[in-house]
Amino acid sequence: MHTTPWPIRLDDLLFREAVEQDLDALLSFRNDPDVNRFMVRTHVEPEELRRDWLAVPESPTEFSCVVERAGRVVAMGFLDVVDGPGQDGAPTGTDGLIGYIVDPRYTGQGIGRATARVLLQAAFDGLGLRRVTAAAYADNPASVRILESAGMRRERLSRQALWHDELGWLDEVGYAILADEWAARAPAGARSS
Ligand SMILES: CC(C)(COP(=O)(O)OP(=O)(O)OC[C@H]1O[C@@H](n2cnc3c(N)ncnc32)[C@H](O)[C@@H]1OP(=O)(O)O)[C@@H](O)C(=O)NCCC(=O)NCCS
Repeated sequence: MHTTPWPIRLDDLLFREAVEQDLDALLSFRNDPDVNRFMVRTHVEPEELRRDWLAVPESPTEFSCVVERAGRVVAMGFLDVVDGPGQDGAPTGTDGLIGYIVDPRYTGQGIGRATARVLLQAAFDGLGLRRVTAAAYADNPASVRILESAGMRRERLSRQALWHDELGWLDEVGYAILADEWAARAPAGARSS
């Protein structure tokens, strides 16, 4: 069953599930070179984007959202529920993986930072997950800053771990936060609506 954590409002931002009318806006920046410079998965075909986003409301494991400000879609957030690794018999569906893309026309305005925070709120307060992780190219300072300001801990630096089409093998950083760490730091303010 899909128990959605959306919608959530934070200041002037509305985080909600995507609808058909959002797809052109999502497509307008998903394949932007400024975005793909920092993405492992680069060009996404329009039909694939459409299929992926419209499947989210029925998915038991995908809780991606769009970020709306003043009636415009300005960013997208990714929240996937995954199984934690370990021996047979481990509980399933306990962990989350987050990511985000801000439309390059709206960067530098705190939207990335707000999106990471709200994705963690959705993961822990909305879905009751146990641990959430995120990864970034090590040379993505804005994303590193966002993950650290959201309270995530750097757990690893993987040297030359990710292939980049133009730059070759790049370092990757991995971040995580546990539910009790989130509870200890989560400020009131964001609210479900
Ligand atoms: C990375 C990205 C999400 C940033 O979004 P944004 O809305 O511009 O981020 P914010 O405005 O919230 O700024 C984030 C922080 O990074 C800092 N920052 C931005 N550029 C920076 C740079 N070059 N070096 C150091 N810090 C930087 C900002 O000062 C801000 O810090 P603060 O909150 O302490 O002021 C956006 O540029 C993007 O979508 N990039 C392409 C896709 C991507 O990289 N996604 C993440 C993959 S892991």
